[in-house]
Amino acid sequence: MAELGHEVVGIDLDPAKIAALSKGETPFFEPGLPEVLTSAMATGRLRFSTDIAEVAGATVHFVAVGTPQKQGGQAADLTHVNAAVAALLPYLRAGDLVVGKSTVPVGTAARLAGVIAASGTGASLAWNPEFLREGFAVQDTISPDRLVYGVPAGAAGERAVEQLNVVYASAVAAKTPLVVTDFATAELVKVAANAFLATKISFINAMAEIAEVSGADVTQLADAIGYDARIGRRFLNAGVGFGGGCLPKDIRAFIARAEELGRGESVAFLKEVDSINLRRRQRVVDLTVGALSGAVFNAKVAVLGLSFKPHSDDVRDSPALDVAVQLRGLGANVVANDPQAIENSRARHPQLSYESDIETTLRDASAVVLVTEWPEFREIDPVWAATLVKTPTIVDGRNTLDAAKWRAAGWTYYGLGRP
Ligand code: UGA
Repeated sequence: MAELGHEVVGIDLDPAKIAALSKGETPFFEPGLPEVLTSAMATGRLRFSTDIAEVAGATVHFVAVGTPQKQGGQAADLTHVNAAVAALLPYLRAGDLVVGKSTVPVGTAARLAGVIAASGTGASLAWNPEFLREGFAVQDTISPDRLVYGVPAGAAGERAVEQLNVVYASAVAAKTPLVVTDFATAELVKVAANAFLATKISFINAMAEIAEVSGADVTQLADAIGYDARIGRRFLNAGVGFGGGCLPKDIRAFIARAEELGRGESVAFLKEVDSINLRRRQRVVDLTVGALSGAVFNAKVAVLGLSFKPHSDDVRDSPALDVAVQLRGLGANVVANDPQAIENSRARHPQLSYESDIETTLRDASAVVLVTEWPEFREIDPVWAATLVKTPTIVDGRNTLDAAKWRAAGWTYYGLGRP
């Protein structure tokens, strides 16, 4: 927002995060973010604080806190959203706009609009879902592929649209597609988009399961159906499945919310989407155990990848980390490598061995498992790697390697849904 020309104060409860940001350091890995943080801070338009009173005087208040899966349940935990809105109330003035960014169950915005109305401040609410992807966050924020404004009916809504058009002036000028709608639709757009993406991935992973029992090749199948523009090739990469802080918890929260609304059957298929996805993690573990002929105990297994996808240090619900932990649980001597996610993984699973050097990771391994398709791993020379390992066996959990090339270098290659 500062980069786009606005004067911004960023508030968080975590003093460590605020201290780091105030020094111009990003508290997580995101390509391009350090540069944009430095340039935005140099303008003098961006500062950070743990003191909510610093919001006084702002006219637009973004609420962008997390909505994780509830402990012991499937629904979204709205504690942080509720607390952030409550904390803002004393500082709101007539005409101010509170803008919800967080992914929330449908119906949340209407309830929060009631809370704001009851405060008598004269401020109003808009729901403006966020579609950025980790790894491309800067690009997706500066040039979003669409804007969705969920606004109340009448004059308050018209004013909210005007205010949001000022906030997003550059995207609006670039003729970014804009959907102005009601709260419920805006909230649903976000969960529907993530549910669709999750379904697309599980669809191709279901095809991988069928390919495995019929001898077909799911990567060629994806290419062939992807040429149909109505289907499209993106998000049709079969492998160990989806993870991260969004897709898994969003489909679960959607199921929980639909059930609350008495429409559980409408999204019951998402339970299957979730099951297919989790089965693929098990499949990678089973393939590895099979590759070791069951001799897992104390076998060195090199796990390449820990983050839920490349170009991120995020290990929330990461299939890669899950596979590493499961193999360790079976007694394997897991040595895991990731260009960015070792620190976050170690904090959650100190029982695993971590190694940042690829050569040391591979040395004397009885099996290699590739679970996050970082360029560093895709570029490994199979001839060189074969000289390091004890047994040249690789499970390509992302179907990202050239199977013929690895086999030619003497490797036993296992993909997911490909011969
Ligand atoms: C996802 C959505 O793509 C964003 O549009 C959305 O804004 C974001 O969630 C959010 O709700 O905040 P993200 O979690 O960054 O973004 O990750 P994705 O790029 O969607 O990937 C999710 C997972 O699917 C990863 O584990 C990835 O490896 C996996 N994936 C993706 C596949 O297994 N196959 C594919 O073909 C594509």
